[in-house]
Formats: sequence, C-alpha cells, structure tokens
Amino acid sequence: MKRIAVIPGDGIGVDVTREAMKVLGRVNETLGRKLEFTELDWGAEKYLREGITLPPGAFEMLRRDFDAILFGAVGDPRVPDNKHAAEILLALRFGLDLYANVRPVKLLHEKLCPLKGVGVNDVNFTVIRENTEGAYVNSGGVFKKGTADEVASQVEIHTRKGVERIIVYAFEYARRHRKTKICMSDKSNVMAYAGDIWQRCFKEVSARYPGIQTNHLYVDALTLLFVRQPKDFQIVVTNNMFGDIVTDLAAALQGGLGMAASGNINPNGVSLFEPVHGSSPPLAGKNLANPMGSILTAAMLLEHLGLGEAARAVEDAVIACVNEGKLTQDVGGNLGTREVGDAVAGKI
Ligand code: NAD
Ligand code: IPM
Ligand code: MN
Repeated sequence: MKRIAVIPGDGIGVDVTREAMKVLGRVNETLGRKLEFTELDWGAEKYLREGITLPPGAFEMLRRDFDAILFGAVGDPRVPDNKHAAEILLALRFGLDLYANVRPVKLLHEKLCPLKGVGVNDVNFTVIRENTEGAYVNSGGVFKKGTADEVASQVEIHTRKGVERIIVYAFEYARRHRKTKICMSDKSNVMAYAGDIWQRCFKEVSARYPGIQTNHLYVDALTLLFVRQPKDFQIVVTNNMFGDIVTDLAAALQGGLGMAASGNINPNGVSLFEPVHGSSPPLAGKNLANPMGSILTAAMLLEHLGLGEAARAVEDAVIACVNEGKLTQDVGGNLGTREVGDAVAGKI
C-alpha cells in the first residue's frame, strides 16, 4: 500500500487537485487499490479560522505516515503578507529537507508553444532548482523602519553541503535519465561569494562524471537562450531564487503555468509534488484553471513511488487530450477544469 497525503491548499490549488485526484482514482482502480489517500485541510481557510498553519507534529506525521505528498498551491488575498504560505509550503520544503526541486520542461504539442517553428523535440529539458537555501532562508532585517534612514537587508545563504548536494543530484539525475549535458547557471559575475562556491562545487563534482558534458551560463543569458535555443538544454542546475524565476519562463515554453509540473524531492525521505503555478485567486472556483500541470505532477508522484507504468499511462492520457484539443482556455481549448479532468481520467 502506498499512502499519499493530499494538500489542495488555496484557490485553484483546490480546483486542480480535485482533477488530479480524479485521475489518480482511475489509476487506483486499475492498480487494484494500491494507493490510499488522506486529505489535509492546511491552507488559508484553516489559518484564518483557527490560526493554524502547520499543525504541531506535522513533519513527524508526514514522515511517519506517508510515502508521498500531493500539493495544490497556497496564497490567498485575505492573507496579504503570505504568512501562511511561508509557514506551510516553505516550511515543508525546509522541514522535510526537500532539497531538490525538479521541474521538467516538456512541450507536449507544438500548438502549445508561443514560439514560431518550435516543436516537441525542441523543448525537453529539466531544471533542478536548489530548494532549501539561497534567498529563501529569511535571513536579514530592517533598521530604522519607517524613517528616512531606513535600511533593509536580505541575506542569501549558500552552504557547501547544500550546493554540493544539489549539483550531485543533478548529475545523478542525468545519469538515471540518460542525459549527457548539464548547464549550471548563476550570477557569479556580480554575486561573487555565492558564485565562487557554486563554481567550485560544479567543477569538482563535474570531474567525477567524465561522461557528462558541462557548461555555465549567467542567469540573464540563460533566460535569453531558453527562448532562442531551448533545444540546447537537457539539464539546468541553479539556485533557489533563479530556479523559481526561470521555471515560470520555461513554463511558457510548454504552454503556460497550467502545464508545468514539479517534484520537491528528499531522496532519503518523503517527497512533495506540486504544479509550478500558484493559487491564481482570479480563476479560483470558476472551473477555469488548467488541471494538466497538477495531473502531470500526479504522474511524477507515481513514477517516484515506483509505479512507472501508471505514470506513463497518465502522461499518455494527457498527451491524447492535448492532441484532441480537450483543453482549458489558457491553452487554446474551450473546456472547463472538470471536463478536462474527466477527459484525462476517461483515457486511463
Ligand atoms: P499564479 O501562478 O497563481 O498565476 C500567474 C498567472 O498564471 C495568472 O495569470 C494565472 O491566472 C495563470 N495561471 C496559473 N496557473 C494556472 C492554471 N492552472 N490554469 C490557467 N492559468 C493559470 O501566480 P501569482 O498570480 O503570482 O500568485 C498568486 C498566489 O499564488 C500568490 O499568493 C502567490 O504567492 C501564490 N503562489 C503559490 C505557489 C505555490 O503554492 N507553489 C506558486 C506561485 C505562487
Ligand atoms: C514556487 C512559488 C513559491 C516559491 C512561492 C509561493 C513561495 O513561486 O513554488 O515556484 O517562490 O518557491
Ligand atoms: Mn514560482
């Protein structure tokens, strides 16, 4: 039995997770009920009602009782400082040590790509984003707040252990997926201290993998080449903040945020899977959100649990729906969230 915690969260996180669950429900029937789901109501609603973000003992419970987590999105206009999102999503990434944020960028049909003359063979790479440090550590402070002399600092942390393990993860990922090229991206021409530790780690780790070709790009140039020559990329490894930014751009190559999936991986513990997009409050509850990113995320979760055949069945069902134009409006279709979920589930 594989035990899966389901955290829909806020906004369209709820809408898309419902459809991913519909598809997983079909998968579960074909597997003879090997999956067991437990829904957790963590999100803005609970926070506003009870003042609770992550309940006490949450990390222990997730580690003990579950094999994987399916997450929707967090973010609600009623919580303007996004406090609950930090205390839920970022806290889970840190607390469960989900250090590898794996974001595949795969174009499923040329009609989804906004670029001219770009086909499915031209966009097929993976961004490996460091997920537990960098600009996300909430280090810094403010001095003389509200005065003309106000000073704010926001400190990035890059540890030898953290940088090395994400780079090693990228090389091991390349090996597992028979990829031959890794690009490391940073801003070492300006951010010299962080850049230096990333550059040295990358060189040292590269030397242990002679079969894998490597190169380096400054992150500004990376965004240009994602658009101009996406075909050049197989695997990109980068820090937390740059990884966040470039994967929204990369999502556009796939058809938009509605198509992009991700995994937050701890190779030695429980991992969390979520679409790349957020809670998109304007679309929430209107049957408008694209559930494909969440459904493809469910496929990543299945693959992670060793259910590769089931994962492929979900991907194939998504591709069939894309080919038939069974899509939401953001990607050129005219179906609602639920109808797309039905269409994918119907093909399993
Ligand atoms: P967003 O990803 O919610 O939306 C960005 C744009 O993409 C919007 O135009 C939105 O309508 C569109 N979009 C996103 N997902 C879509 C889908 N499935 N189908 C169709 N269109 C889709 O990002 P935002 O607007 O910057 O943030 C909204 C809230 O979500 C904020 O509170 C933010 O902090 C939060 N957020 C959460 C996560 C997460 O939980 N992982 C990720 C990003 C943003
Ligand atoms: C993402 C999101 C999050 C991030 C936010 C909601 C904290 O943008 O998962 O890409 O910045 O990592
Ligand atoms: Mn993001």
